[in-house]
Amino acid sequence: ELAVPVGQRQRLNEEVLPFSAFLTDNFGRRHSYLRISLTEKCNLRCQYCMPEEGVKLTPRSQLLSTSEVLTVAQLFVREGVEKIRLTGGEPLIRPDVLDIITELRKLEGLKTIAVTTNGMNLARLLPKLKEAGLDLLNISLDTLVPAKFEFIVRRKGFHKVMEGIDKAIEMGYNPVKVNCVVMRGLNEDELLDFVALTEKKPLEVRFIEYMPFDGNKWNFKKMVSYQEMLDRIRQQWPSLEQLPLGKTDTAKTFKVPGFQGQVGFITSMSDQFCGSCNRLRITADGNLKVCLFGNTEVSLRDVLRSGASDQELLDIIGAAVGRKKKQHAGECLNISLYLLLLLYAFVLFYMYF
Ligand code: 5AD
Ligand code: SF4
Repeated sequence: ELAVPVGQRQRLNEEVLPFSAFLTDNFGRRHSYLRISLTEKCNLRCQYCMPEEGVKLTPRSQLLSTSEVLTVAQLFVREGVEKIRLTGGEPLIRPDVLDIITELRKLEGLKTIAVTTNGMNLARLLPKLKEAGLDLLNISLDTLVPAKFEFIVRRKGFHKVMEGIDKAIEMGYNPVKVNCVVMRGLNEDELLDFVALTEKKPLEVRFIEYMPFDGNKWNFKKMVSYQEMLDRIRQQWPSLEQLPLGKTDTAKTFKVPGFQGQVGFITSMSDQFCGSCNRLRITADGNLKVCLFGNTEVSLRDVLRSGASDQELLDIIGAAVGRKKKQHAGECLNISLYLLLLLYAFVLFYMYF
């Protein structure tokens, strides 16, 4: 694929105001949303995310320091990033998370600061997080049954997470987003319970299609599709209505009339949203990733530490964004491979019997 020169990329998306050419890709997508991973560490071991023994940890000196995180954030915000989400591992176990949010808050042009957390330390940290300027919270919770929680995340803590969720509501976060990865045979039977939770609480429960990641033993059969989830919920609440879809929303949202909260579906597997993707990611060790599934990364940390100027950094970011593919192939490949094998098995079966 031929890269469109940085100078010409803006014109690909002309109906809106001018936007940084460095953050615009060859398909006219404007990357105004940056996700920064603060650490690979986590105090849980969710089966779909991490092996029991945890992940190989990068030495601390190789992770972005507080000031490096802020330098990078500032640069992106200056170029037009309006939303930053802090992720992990578990971002709230990083000791400087409050300082980082406090400093981010000062960046002119940054509209939203969000955090995705497992909620374990949330109840305790919330007052300080709010004071520092946190706008938006996504909390992971895959089950409402304490014993199952312990099985899925391989640690105790269900009540701490629930306490965090309630505290977030109490402190005025609305909606509080709850991420629920739906896995067949594990928590699919709790779909309706999760929806019922939105009756009295201003939550947005987001059902996420289970995705294949390195070594999480993903299997096509373990994934429950958006359509199947929707059908099941509609059986109980036929009046479920769809809410308008924002331009870069990844979740399709619905509401049971009269309920305080709503439900959403993240359909990464059954219905890709690559066309409207506006995200860039920075790993804890400072690599820029233009796609969650791609493995092309460029180290902003090394560039920063070599004493490069802002302009040099920007050139490198612009080049990486310019290499962003139209769609990710990662898991589609997995599905196609699976279907191909299935077909092959059928053919063999018919040939021999
Ligand atoms: N499939 C879908 N979602 C996942 N997450 C982590 N691993 C997976 C996976 N294999 C999501 C969870 C969690 C967030 C940090 O990432 O929803 O809330
Ligand atoms: Fe992974 Fe998040 Fe679970 Fe930690 S809480 S193991 S980062 S999914």
